[in-house]
Amino acid sequence: MRLVLLGAPGAGKGTQAKKLIDKYGIPQISTGDILRKAVADGTPLGKEAKSYMDKGELVPDSVVIGLVKERIAQDDCKKGYILDGFPRNTAQAETLDKVLNDLGMPLTAALSVDVPKDDLMKRLTGRRTCKGCQQMYNIYFSPSKKEGVCDKCSGELFQRDDDKEETIKRRLDVYEASTAPLIDYYNKKGILKSVQGVGSIDDIFKKVCAVLEA
Ligand code: AP5
Ligand code: MG
Repeated sequence: MRLVLLGAPGAGKGTQAKKLIDKYGIPQISTGDILRKAVADGTPLGKEAKSYMDKGELVPDSVVIGLVKERIAQDDCKKGYILDGFPRNTAQAETLDKVLNDLGMPLTAALSVDVPKDDLMKRLTGRRTCKGCQQMYNIYFSPSKKEGVCDKCSGELFQRDDDKEETIKRRLDVYEASTAPLIDYYNKKGILKSVQGVGSIDDIFKKVCAVLEA
């Protein structure tokens, strides 16, 4: 399965991707996670990316496309992968199609997780992530048992730098302008599937698996 996850910031792409990894045994490629790691490590890439991420803007295509090309060439991607947060605009989608067509391994599906805009702000301001194992929590919807501490590995929970209200607003605008048009792009290619991303995480996952296996 070579899958693209589409959806607004906070739609639950990362949350569902983690469950897909366990079920299908294929890796998640999150450009956001890769960029955040580069920022944390203070690499030249991270320094360049940080200024865009802090404003809620997209990092330049050339940077992100290079990262993804490198990542999908690795051995663990031979059986398939889940692209989370990439592509983010038409230029990235067209480049991805070209690269995959040249390899003779086109995308199998693009799955859109649809969540009403009103739900997204609370999901994002409430999100907390484990520094150790990356498990995600939400102080409103799915808190850890002990505040600030991961249930799974006892790691410290942190809040993402771009989960501030002003930055979230900008990310949602960028999503509408640049990324939402990809729903139509993949629909025209005949590989679009969609699920409503509202309800419990497990119920949504059941719907995700059902549409992917249909
Ligand atoms: P990225 O990391 O991709 O962020 P995003 O698209 O804004 O998406 P999020 O990770 O915020 O949301 P999600 O859908 O994964 O939701 P999650 O599962 O965490 O990108 C960050 C930045 O990096 C960009 O702004 C850009 O600068 C740069 N970047 C990345 N990729 C790029 C690219 N290709 N090109 C250019 N720049 C790029 O869930 C959110 C919260 O909701 C969690 O707390 C979760 O527990 C909770 N939740 C999930 N499901 C439910 C549910 N059913 N009910 C209640 N709560 C739920
Ligand atoms: Mg995410």
